[in-house]
Amino acid sequence: MRLGIVAAVIVIAGVAVVVARTGAQADLIPYTDSDAVALGANLYEEHCATCHGANLEGEPNWRERDADGYLPAPPHDVNGHTWHHPDRQLFEITKYGTEAMVGGNYRSNMGGFSEVLTDDEILAVLAYIKSTWPPRVIERHDAMNAQVGN
Ligand code: HEC
Repeated sequence: MRLGIVAAVIVIAGVAVVVARTGAQADLIPYTDSDAVALGANLYEEHCATCHGANLEGEPNWRERDADGYLPAPPHDVNGHTWHHPDRQLFEITKYGTEAMVGGNYRSNMGGFSEVLTDDEILAVLAYIKSTWPPRVIERHDAMNAQVGN
C-alpha cells in the first residue's frame, strides 16, 4: 500500500517535470524575470542601441534599402516586426546574424553576437526588448510561441 502511494507520487512528479519543461521550451525568452530584463537593458544599451536606437525606435526609413542594398536597423518596439518572430528565431537571428539566417547571397549589417554574448545574455537582451511591448502584443507573441512550440 505504502509503496503504491510512493510510486504514484513519483509518477505525478515526473509528469509535472515534463509539463514544466514543455512550458519552458514554448517560452524561451525570460521576459518576466526582472533580473534577466535588467541585465538585458544594460546589454542592449551597450551592444544594440547604436543601430536599433536607445528607445528601440530603429533607424529612419528602416523599410528602405540603402544605395548598397542594405536594410537599416528596424525598430524593436511595436512599430517593427521583431514581435512577428517566435522566440527561437529571434534568438538565432541575434546569435548568428541575418546573413546566416537568410542564406544565399543575402547581405546584412545585422552581424551575429555568438562571439560577444553568451546564450543567456542574448536571451536577456531579448527579454528586455519583449518586456517593453504592450500586454496585447506580448499576448500575441506568447500565443505564436505556443503554436510553433519553439
Ligand atoms: C551594426 C548595427 C546593428 C547592431 C549593433 C545590432 N543590429 Fe540587429 N539589425 C541590424 C539591421 C541592419 C537589421 C536588419 C537586417 C536585415 O534584415 O537585413 C537588424 C535586425 C535585427 C533583428 C531582426 C528583426 C526583424 O524584425 O526581423 C533582430 C532580432 C535584431 N536585429 C536584434 C539585435 C540585437 C538583440 C542586437 C544587440 C545584441 C542587435 N540587433 C544589434 C543592425 C544591427
